Amino acid sequence: MYTQVSIVGGGPAGLLLSHLLHLRGIESVVLELRSREELETEIRAGVLEQGTVDLLNAAGVGDRMRKQGAVHHGVNLQFDGHRERIDFHDLTGRAITVYGQHEVVKDLIQARLDAGGHILFETAATELRDLDSDEPKVRFRRGAKLEGGTIRFDDDAEEEELVCGHIAGCDGFFGISRPAIPEADRTEYMRTYPFGWFGILVEGPPSTEELIYNLHERGFALVSTRSPEIQRLYFQCDPEDEVGHWPDERIWSEMHARLDTDDGWTVNEGNIVQKSIVRMRSFVTEPMQHGRLFLAGDAAHIVPPTGAKGMNLAVADVRVLARGLADFHESGDTDLLERYSEICLRRVWKTSRFSWWMTSMLHRFEKDNDFQHRFQIAELDYVTSSRAAATTLAENYVGLPIDPAFLIPGEDGMKDQDRRKP
Ligand code: DHB
Repeated sequence: MYTQVSIVGGGPAGLLLSHLLHLRGIESVVLELRSREELETEIRAGVLEQGTVDLLNAAGVGDRMRKQGAVHHGVNLQFDGHRERIDFHDLTGRAITVYGQHEVVKDLIQARLDAGGHILFETAATELRDLDSDEPKVRFRRGAKLEGGTIRFDDDAEEEELVCGHIAGCDGFFGISRPAIPEADRTEYMRTYPFGWFGILVEGPPSTEELIYNLHERGFALVSTRSPEIQRLYFQCDPEDEVGHWPDERIWSEMHARLDTDDGWTVNEGNIVQKSIVRMRSFVTEPMQHGRLFLAGDAAHIVPPTGAKGMNLAVADVRVLARGLADFHESGDTDLLERYSEICLRRVWKTSRFSWWMTSMLHRFEKDNDFQHRFQIAELDYVTSSRAAATTLAENYVGLPIDPAFLIPGEDGMKDQDRRKP
């Protein structure tokens, strides 16, 4: 089997890459371990930067997002018993859209299948080979299932091989792509945080129009939404804790203790339909490429969830990779592909720094003393009272600017031949 680009992983990064390549007439095959249903129901973050929204619209996959996504022009920071708003629109002229990641995934799967694209679900990539040659290969097996962290195969599943021009490693932190780069040729940077997020999905009316990020002596809490009928709430927890230790009443009591304010505002309770705990880490691997393998999204970097940058960063990688691959296929020019990692890492590090900063400002650390807590309150007071500081938060939150060279046709009314070289 041959394709121009093999894409390992069918999350937002892999699917969007496949779609953008298709728009440039480049063929790809996406190999994804999970089933379509699993992909389409996995609850993840739901905040899209303006640039992500613009790209999805220009790429023709924004119809449902425009109808069902909620545009937010600001967020609230709550600390020391009061709530302050950061007005994105006033500070940056831009906004964010709340629309679940799995909804983006649904839209992309539909677009690929409508266009006759190849997505092999329940297929495990087992090995990446010949990365330094012009014809790298992905070995894979169909009929795969992930059960408790282990991949199991149907008994009759044989190993097959996909030969291609390039491989995109979009298979997340635990995928096989990053380890396919020899250890001696990569450097990994990692920081783990001494807490996790307990996330719940709640049927019931939202407690707030715009998100609330809350620092409290008992720990961080976040109020978000998904739709007029669904709330998404998170609170800082012990990463070793278990969902089973948290019956609904205990969750609501903790949420009220952290969030309710003296003026009578209270978090709306509702029917909890999903509970999960995520661990938090910052991780970056350098470089993000090796021979004809290019890593994108969580395969190359992880941010803690505060600020919801994970998917947006993956989308920013894919913009660059799609353009680099298009240059190669249209004119044989390899300049952008050669600089892929260098171009992406500038944004990756800045965004990792922002996610770390938001996390540090808003969570109680194990060894925190009151001195540290007063500093956090002073910082929040500064960020919400200085226009310069508020702008720093706002411009990162709505998304750092995209180099115009990586906007796609239609995103800015520019014709493709007018696009400059970065
Ligand atoms: C959501 C997740 C985040 O990590 C965040 O910072 C804001 C919102 C969400 O899932 O809605």
